[in-house]
Amino acid sequence: MSARRTVLLTGATGVVGRSLLREPGAVRLLPAARAATVPDAGEPVVRCDVTRERFGLDADAYAELAARVDVVIHSAGLTEWGLPAERYAPVNVEGTRRVIEFAREAGAPVHFMSTAFVAALADTAPVPLRAENVCRNYITSKYAAEELLRSSGIPHAIYRPTNLIGDSVTGWTSHPQIVQQMSDWLGRGRAPFLPVHPGIRMDFVPQDLLSKAVLRAIERGDDEGEWWVTLGPEAMDVETCVGIVVKQAAERGRHLTVPPLLDADGLAPETIAEQPPMTRSYLSVLRDVSEVTRCSGGVLPTSMPELRDRYGLPAVDDTAAYATTLAYAARHLA
Ligand SMILES: NC(=O)c1ccc[n+]([C@@H]2O[C@H](COP(=O)([O-])OP(=O)(O)OC[C@H]3O[C@@H](n4cnc5c(N)ncnc54)[C@H](OP(=O)(O)O)[C@@H]3O)[C@@H](O)[C@H]2O)c1
Repeated sequence: MSARRTVLLTGATGVVGRSLLREPGAVRLLPAARAATVPDAGEPVVRCDVTRERFGLDADAYAELAARVDVVIHSAGLTEWGLPAERYAPVNVEGTRRVIEFAREAGAPVHFMSTAFVAALADTAPVPLRAENVCRNYITSKYAAEELLRSSGIPHAIYRPTNLIGDSVTGWTSHPQIVQQMSDWLGRGRAPFLPVHPGIRMDFVPQDLLSKAVLRAIERGDDEGEWWVTLGPEAMDVETCVGIVVKQAAERGRHLTVPPLLDADGLAPETIAEQPPMTRSYLSVLRDVSEVTRCSGGVLPTSMPELRDRYGLPAVDDTAAYATTLAYAARHLA
């Protein structure tokens, strides 16, 4: 595909949006956001609230936008975990319906940022995800958005990233995320034990790999496909992950004892419930994220080999990228 495509990017202020805006590419990205300004935006911001009719634009502005846009990257979403289902639906489900309506008017394909966690809801899941899992309502809303796209008749590509970490080379991220927060807590020696499911992988992907895949796909005109942006069997095990945190803590003068790993399925409920509130909260999230991976088979499905072949994604050592992410977080985000 030779002409430079004009791409509307929803969620431009988010972790993924900011990473996309910094990634060199041969497309024109129009940042769409609720905010008036977006760092690193090369084009004026399109004010956009996906919960509002026509994104909150008047009819003329909406039609003019639809006439300019060739492709939509839909990255806006409510990503916080642990909220009731009715909080996610307006943004993640109805918001995607509005994006589809817009794409239909624009004659544009949609590149949608879903999540690898939908694997935990698949019919093939070895065990069902508990109803009270902290991620469940979020995952269910992302799955519902995927279903809307699949039934829309609109050309679309779905990307399912695992937990994203900082840039593969510098560790940069626009805001800290769950991996950095959880690692910081662990690195401060606050974990009495770690409730995890035996054999699961800690699957972290640097955010720039997702951005590269999406931009290369759009540049080539690959507007259909479903991509698991994960490392699958290449991902590190829990012991390796904890070892990296302990080593980084030692470099900052904190000598930790490695907390014991306890089988999350075999834990009596009071083992977590009787901890102080902050500890309880971190341990519960860890157990629930581990459960999501367990329900996905312990090792997430992956398209990384195909993404490397097709889009030239670099083969990144996840242990090195994770260490770089932690070092960046310690310097800039603490
Ligand atoms: N980061 C990850 O590790 C990861 C992993 C798997 C999947 N994903 C998926 O990737 C997408 C982007 O994730 P992220 O990490 O960039 O999330 P994020 O940092 O939480 O950013 C969310 C983005 O959505 C925007 N947004 C929220 N409500 C909106 C609304 N009503 N109208 C318009 N925009 C709205 C936010 O804008 P404001 O600044 O105005 O709030 C922000 O730009 C999400 O859909 C998420 O499900 C992310």
